[in-house]
Amino acid sequence: MKGLVLINAYWRAECVTEQAERIQRELELAGVETDIKRNGFLPCAAGAGIENRIADAYDFCVYLDKDKYVSELLEKSGMRLFNRHEAVRVCDDKMRTYAALAANGIAVPYTVPAPLCYTAGSVPRADVLDEVERRLGYPIVIKTSYGSGGKGVYKADNRAELERVAGGLLMQPHMYQQYIESDGKDIRVIVIGGRVTGGMLRTAPEGEFRSNIAAGGSGQPYPLDDDAIKLCERVADVFSLDYAGIDLLRTPHGYIVCEVNSNAFFAEFERTCGINVAGAYAGHIVRTMSGV
Ligand SMILES: Nc1ncnc2c1ncn2[C@@H]1O[C@H](COP(=O)(O)OP(=O)(O)O)[C@@H](O)[C@H]1O
Ligand SMILES: [Mg+2]
Repeated sequence: MKGLVLINAYWRAECVTEQAERIQRELELAGVETDIKRNGFLPCAAGAGIENRIADAYDFCVYLDKDKYVSELLEKSGMRLFNRHEAVRVCDDKMRTYAALAANGIAVPYTVPAPLCYTAGSVPRADVLDEVERRLGYPIVIKTSYGSGGKGVYKADNRAELERVAGGLLMQPHMYQQYIESDGKDIRVIVIGGRVTGGMLRTAPEGEFRSNIAAGGSGQPYPLDDDAIKLCERVADVFSLDYAGIDLLRTPHGYIVCEVNSNAFFAEFERTCGINVAGAYAGHIVRTMSGV
């Protein structure tokens, strides 16, 4: 059995290659050889059928990219992807994620998609912003559909800020969201093969509401209660995620799912919680591929 660990053509951050190497190492320890490649060699194409140039060389692909076009073509050609294409596609788009979670009765912050704008030079419509204010009240969280690491997540405390952020994002898919009072904290939970591995409380730096490690947040181990475990395992199940990094916000009425990541970085989680995430993922991949 041989696998490919596929990473994005343009992601240059060290954490990207580190994550791939951790998974490669753990798969090697489990007796499975892999190659790490960037998606610069165009592994697949659509033509008279689907071309998969790596079909003969690899039995599976650890898909550390978020590129939903490549994942679709690889999977449609019959290759097993970890995570699967549909999971990558839904998780890549925050509005799609919220819609899918809400449709399955899973609590998410109240979220209104901004009307998509295809007309360059437009400004946000006043009636849209009036309605957003009426439905959400301040503060309002504004998010791009495709951001990560806290980039593309903003907070507006008044109309002037709302107009400024909405104006800057008009040509990108984005949404308006209820602010959940959480003191700059959230809980990152990693689920592998349907089972929670552990939880990490993330705390935002002073004066910041985004708790992402990439945005300067700090992590500490967090003992998960049964509600959090049940919720996260259900989320992973709903999206058929082999591997999931789920962000929870705590409220007095229970947990709310803030985000579901199909390719969450795990270095800080491994360091903080002392959990071998890459090893658990490798174990899941090997078991799945061996049919046990
Ligand atoms: N509705 C919200 N209310 C309060 N805090 C939020 C809300 N949405 C996001 N945050 C904070 O911002 C961080 C980043 O938001 P998230 O939706 O997870 O996007 P990203 O993909 O950038 O991680 C979260 O981890 C959380 O700390
Ligand atoms: Mg997040």
